[in-house]
Amino acid sequence: MSQKISSALAHPNIAFIKYWGNANPSLRLPSNGSISMNLEGLETVTSLSSSTQQDTHTLTINDVVQESDKSSRIAEYLEKIRTLYPFEGFLTIRSRNNFPISAGIASSASAFAALALALNDFLALGLSEPEISALARLGSGSASRSIPGGYVQWEPGNDHQSSFAASIASPTHWQLFDIILAVTLEEKKISSTRGHQHADTSPYQSVRVHDTPRRLNICRQAIIDKDFEKLAWIIEQDSDMMHAVMLTSDPPIVYWQPASLSIMQTVRELRKNGVACAYTLDAGPNVHIICPPSSKDAVLDFFSEYPGIQEIYIAKTGGAAHIIPS
Ligand code: DP6
Repeated sequence: MSQKISSALAHPNIAFIKYWGNANPSLRLPSNGSISMNLEGLETVTSLSSSTQQDTHTLTINDVVQESDKSSRIAEYLEKIRTLYPFEGFLTIRSRNNFPISAGIASSASAFAALALALNDFLALGLSEPEISALARLGSGSASRSIPGGYVQWEPGNDHQSSFAASIASPTHWQLFDIILAVTLEEKKISSTRGHQHADTSPYQSVRVHDTPRRLNICRQAIIDKDFEKLAWIIEQDSDMMHAVMLTSDPPIVYWQPASLSIMQTVRELRKNGVACAYTLDAGPNVHIICPPSSKDAVLDFFSEYPGIQEIYIAKTGGAAHIIPS
C-alpha cells in the first residue's frame, strides 16, 4: 500500500484592520477583530506524511531541514493539536514558499494555514472551514484569515471554537493589487509573537482596541461598496494606529525605516494627485501598497527606480486555502 501524503496550498494575507495584542496568548485569542485580503501569487505548499521509523516531527522548508526556532514552534503546535485530536506517531512536514520568509509578508499565516488544512486531510478530522480556521489560529493568529477566500474578517471570539475567520467577499467581487515594496529582506528582529506580548504596555493600545468596531465597520462597508477612497483612508489610519502602539510600547518597537516613511508620504502625495493607492505596514519595514488595477502600472512605474527598495512583489486578491494533489 502506498504511503499517505496530504498536501495543501495557502496564500499569505495582508491585514487592512490589524490584529495586535492577545487577550489569551496561548489560545491566540486576539484583543481585537481584524480584516485582511488573501494574496494570490504568493503561496506556501505543505505536504504531510509519517513513518513508523521516526521519533520526532521533522520540518523541511524549501529543501532545508529546520533544526531551530521554526521546527520547535511547529513541534509545539503539533503537540497542541494532539491534545485536541489525539493521533499516533510523528509527522514529516515539507513546506515550500515562493516568497522570502519573515520579510514583512506574513509567511507564518500561509505556513500555518497550509499545515492546518493538510492536517485535517491527513488525520481525516472532517472539520468545517471555521474549525480549520480556528485550528490554524492556534499556530499563528493571522493564519486563521488565510483559510477562507478573498476578503476575510476574524472575530476575536471568547474560546477556541468561537475565534475563527470567515469570508466577507470573494476575490471576484473586487480585484485589488498589493504591491509590496521590500526595503529589507532580512528577518525582522522582533517577531510578531513577541510584539503582541508588549502591546498592552502602550497607553494607546486600549484606545486602539476600543475604537476597532468603528474601523472594522468602515473597512467592511468600503469592501462591500468597492469604495477605494474610503478603504484607503481607513487602512492607512489603522496601520498608523498599530505602529503608534508599537512606537509607544515599553520597550518601544520601531519597525519603520527611513525608506518606509518616505514611501508612505509619497503614496499620500500620489493619491492627492489622482493615483488610487494606499499604504499599510505589518510588523516590519516593508510597505504594502494596495491599489485597484487602474493604478497598478502608475504605482509600479513610480516606484521601480525609487531609492531604498530591494525587491518588489506583486500579488492580487487571492482565494481560499485548498488541498492539492500530492
Ligand atoms: C502586524 O499572526 O504573525 O501582521 O499569532 O504570534 O503568529 P502570531 O502573530 P501574527 O501577527 C500578525 C500581526 C500583523 C497584523 C495582522 O496580520 O493582523
